[in-house]
Amino acid sequence: TTHSLLLLPGDGIGPEIMASAGEVIDWFNRRAGGKLFTTETDLVGGAAYDAHGAAISEETMQKALAADAVLFGAVGGPKWDDVPYDVRPEAGLLRLRKDLQLFANLRPAICYAALADASSLKKELVEGLDILIVRELTGGVYFGEPKEIRDLGNGQKRAVDTQVYDTFEIERIARVAFDLARTRRNKVTSSEKRNVMKSGVLWKEVVERVREADYPDVELEHMLADNCGMQLVRRPKQFDVIVCDNLFGDMLSDVAAMLTGSLGMLPSASLGAPDPTTGRRKALYEPVHGSAPDITGTGRANPIAMIASFAMALRYSFGLVEEADLLDKAIATALDSGARTADIAPDGADTVGTEEMTAAIIAALDNL
Ligand code: NAI
Ligand code: MG
Repeated sequence: TTHSLLLLPGDGIGPEIMASAGEVIDWFNRRAGGKLFTTETDLVGGAAYDAHGAAISEETMQKALAADAVLFGAVGGPKWDDVPYDVRPEAGLLRLRKDLQLFANLRPAICYAALADASSLKKELVEGLDILIVRELTGGVYFGEPKEIRDLGNGQKRAVDTQVYDTFEIERIARVAFDLARTRRNKVTSSEKRNVMKSGVLWKEVVERVREADYPDVELEHMLADNCGMQLVRRPKQFDVIVCDNLFGDMLSDVAAMLTGSLGMLPSASLGAPDPTTGRRKALYEPVHGSAPDITGTGRANPIAMIASFAMALRYSFGLVEEADLLDKAIATALDSGARTADIAPDGADTVGTEEMTAAIIAALDNL
């Protein structure tokens, strides 16, 4: 089979790190002795605005819908700070999420052995850490209606946000979490606040029902979200997969991210519903970081978040688990060999640039 990838490098360091991902894609194509992946590159964000006056063109949207997966760099930068709201660079990413119906956001927190010393936690707490946060991305309090600031007329205003979850939304995110747990250590922690929120009561009920019906082999625990935040910092290795709503997932994934180090290391995936005929999910893979205008053009960007995002595509979109393991191991090996971009180097240590880091990962692939 040939897998089609739409590459959307975007702005700032986006094109620089996408070039690194391109080298890795080429390596896997060479190894397979032909075309394992076909790629097409297009514009998104400020780059698309400059060319078409929109953060993503309809033609690009069609390509994204047709592709097996989208690899996304980053969008935005000072050049576009004053463009109209509905065509600002971020609108390109929001449109992709909406039209591809990407309701599940996957954020791994992995601690590479070579970087365990650099964590803000004690080395023994994070060494070997490998957890996955599954965040509901399209519902909850960020989108629920009513959402407004009311004028109460007595000099007072009232701000209203509404947390809304329907059964089907909880069911489908729970399925993603249980499916993923089966490929890992078979444990799901479901996090909500049922003690003070009705959405938490329904969340727990639905997650439990999904498990009983279809995933009795997966271990399930329920943990209040505030305790979950505390446990992530106290004893992070107790977790395998954590599933939670949009708001708690936003916070817990950022907490988990910082257990393991720099923004330049963090990949993510956003998945949609499985296609009824092929079973394949629409998916977008992107680094967690932004376009880093402060280092754009200097050749110093860390390509690992982007390359690890491609590794997630191998694993979750294409079922190429052996290839995904190989690439993750190559990243670890490059770090073991001492290669450090500036963002992950201790003060005063020698650093390498984007190209050297990419070359170290390719060399590790050659030698593994
Ligand atoms: P940022 O993530 O771009 O940068 C924050 C800091 O981390 C900067 O000092 C940057 O140099 C550093 N950094 C980020 N990625 C790095 C990498 N791969 N290697 C080395 N250092 C790295 O966040 P910031 O500065 O808040 O936003 C810059 C622009 O990016 C803004 O226009 C923002 O709207 C946009 N943005 C886009 C996102 C996306 O496309 N998904 C996500 C976050 C921000
Ligand atoms: Mg966040």
